[in-house]
Amino acid sequence: MKSSAIAHSNIALIKYWGRSQEHDPNLNIPLNDTVSMTKYGISDGIRLQTHTTIEFSSDFDEDTAIVEREKITGRHRERIIRVIDHLRALAKVDDKFKMMSHNDFPVQAGLASSASAFAALALATADALGLKFSREELSKIARLGSGSAARSIHGGFVYCHKGNSHETAFAEQICTEDCFDMNAVIAVVDLEKKEVTSDEGHQFANTSPFNNIRIQKSQQQASEMRRLILENKFDAVGQIAETNCLYMHSVMMTSQPALFYWQPATLNIIKKIQHLRKEGLPSYFTIDAGPNVHCLCQSKNTGELQKIIEKIEGVKRTILVRPGGDTILTNEHLF
Ligand code: PMV
Repeated sequence: MKSSAIAHSNIALIKYWGRSQEHDPNLNIPLNDTVSMTKYGISDGIRLQTHTTIEFSSDFDEDTAIVEREKITGRHRERIIRVIDHLRALAKVDDKFKMMSHNDFPVQAGLASSASAFAALALATADALGLKFSREELSKIARLGSGSAARSIHGGFVYCHKGNSHETAFAEQICTEDCFDMNAVIAVVDLEKKEVTSDEGHQFANTSPFNNIRIQKSQQQASEMRRLILENKFDAVGQIAETNCLYMHSVMMTSQPALFYWQPATLNIIKKIQHLRKEGLPSYFTIDAGPNVHCLCQSKNTGELQKIIEKIEGVKRTILVRPGGDTILTNEHLF
């Protein structure tokens, strides 16, 4: 009854912001389809992964969740329990659990820690309870923890259907990590925990008058991007990712309360990327709910781009990323 899994975070190329109000908010049904790249970090031991171990036993008298050696309480614990309870009910098990989790990167800092965390949790828990699922089924369970986690179940490039129920909102792979040449240089501006988490921010999306148009555009962009990835069109994919990111940040900045995730250095990076493109270095930016910038490029340009990005004022460090693989089980247990 003990299992462990490793999952990678992902960067959304077509992003979601806001959850459907027509369904139970705990289902985390996103308002639009999304597209992402699962990330494998290739800088100084940062793989951008979560390693999770879970054990169920009739000897345990309470549920315990420990992340980075700290006992988890409050909202975060509720989300963990939601995923585990769903699986306990399917397995008809009522044993208590002990769960331990370790991220090799800072959490809640716009590097998508909830994505890898809930993907690893879904797979490890299913395995510990003796349940077998397809990856699409597993993505639905990961979504109960966080919307972006559905995508991290798959490696490579991923399409997530918003659906209109628990059964129809799932992620599927577009193609594996070798099918499309895209890397990212993450420009780290700040790794402090953010003031408004994405979990909270989703609730304000619909207060922006621009969210409906963002949803409409994102639906079109998601299917177009899937086609362009399969056709190996880097520039077109990068351009759409950049535009889609700006749609999302426009909604954030015009919601109530207005959310500004950018810092001055974020804008320095945006301007540099636009300038580099003019000079003939193809690169595009995308930014999640935080100040850090993912600078998308092809593998042949990663080294050169990293050297340039590192020198921008306000950039604390860079993390290099290539497409990562599926969420997997491991025999290495954390306890
Ligand atoms: O899955 P959550 O609740 O962490 O929300 C993710 C929100 C964004 O990262 C901003 C966009 C996305 O689609 O990943």
